[in-house]
Amino acid sequence: MATRIFSGIQPTGTLHIGNYFGAIRNWAALQADHDCVYCIVDYHAITIDIDSKALRAASRAMALDLMACGIDPKRSILFIQSSVPEHAELAWILGCVTSYGDLARMTQFKEKSAGRKFISAGLFNYPILQAADILLYKAQGVPVGEDQVQHLELSRRIARRFNARFGEFFPEPEPIVEEKGGRLKSLADPTKEMSKSAGEPNYIGVMEEESSIRKKVRSAVTDTGLVAGEEMSPGVANLFEILELATELSGDLSIVVELHADFKAGKLMYSRLKEVVFDSLMDVLRPIRQRRAELEASGKVEEILASGTKKASAIARENIARVREMVGL
Ligand code: TYM
Repeated sequence: MATRIFSGIQPTGTLHIGNYFGAIRNWAALQADHDCVYCIVDYHAITIDIDSKALRAASRAMALDLMACGIDPKRSILFIQSSVPEHAELAWILGCVTSYGDLARMTQFKEKSAGRKFISAGLFNYPILQAADILLYKAQGVPVGEDQVQHLELSRRIARRFNARFGEFFPEPEPIVEEKGGRLKSLADPTKEMSKSAGEPNYIGVMEEESSIRKKVRSAVTDTGLVAGEEMSPGVANLFEILELATELSGDLSIVVELHADFKAGKLMYSRLKEVVFDSLMDVLRPIRQRRAELEASGKVEEILASGTKKASAIARENIARVREMVGL
C-alpha cells in the first residue's frame, strides 16, 4: 500500500520560491508513488488579523498556484481546509491531549506573537489544528520546510498521547524535509528565513513580475569582498543554493560547477552570479506562470476543489467516527 502523505499551505500572501523549493516541488514529486492529500489551510490563516473579504479569493488563487506548480488533482486530493469541518472537530479533541507547556515552547508561536497587541488563543492553538490536519487522514509522511519540523514533533507527541489514552489509532507522522531548499533565506537579510511575513524585499514570488524579481536578485545582500579560500557568506551561499535548485531541473549543472570554481579561486563576480541566478530562476518560473494562466482560463477551479472536498470528506468522516467512538462521544 502506498504511504499516505499530507501537507498544507496558508492561502495568505503570495507563494514564494521558499515555499516552492522547500515544499511544493516535493509535494509534486511525491505524487508519483504516494497517496497524497494537499490542503489550503484557511482555518490557520484566521489565527491572525487578515482581510476576510480577500480570504476566499486567496484560497482559490492558491489552488491555481499549486496546480500550476505541478499538483495534479487527478492524482492527489486538493481541497480547502474549512470545506471539511472535521478538521476543527478533531482539533478540539486533540487539544485535550496536548500539553499547555508544549504549546508555549513553540518557536513559531513566540515569533508570530511577538509585538502583537492582540494574541488570539487560535494562534496559540495553531499546532493542534496542524496535528489534526495530518492525523485526520492518518498520514505517515509530511513534506515541509525546516521551519515546520518542531510542529511535526508536537504532532507526533499528540498522536502518542491520544494512542496511550484512548487506544492505538494514529500513526506518528514523519516530516519529509529536502536536503536542499528546505531552508531558503531572505535575499535582503540572509540571516533570516525567506517568508511572506518578513515583507516584500525578503521574498521572491513565484508569480511576481519579472522586472521586480530582477531587481531583488540584483540587490541581494552578499558581502563586501571575496578572498580566495574563505568560506561563503550566508548571502552568497543562499544565491548558490537557489542556483543549484533552479538548474537541477534542466540537468545541466556545468554553470554551477564553473561559478563554484571561480568562487574558490577568489575571482567570482557577484554581478555575474546574480545574472545567472536570475536567468535560471526565470527558466523554472516561466512555465509555471504559463500553466497558471491556462488553468485560470479553463475556469475549473471550483469544480476541482469540490471534488477534492468530496474525497477528503470521505476519509475524514470515517476516521472521525472512529475517534468519537474511542473517546466516548
Ligand atoms: P506555510 O504556509 O508558512 O508554508 C508552506 C510550506 O512552505 C515551507 N516554507 C519554506 N521552505 C523552505 N524555505 C523557506 N524559506 C520556507 N518558507 C516556507 C513551509 O515549511 C511549508 O512546508 N503551518 C504550515 C501550514 C500547515 C501544515 C499543516 C503543513 C497547516 N497544517 C499540516 C503541513 C501539515 C504553514 O504555515 O506553512
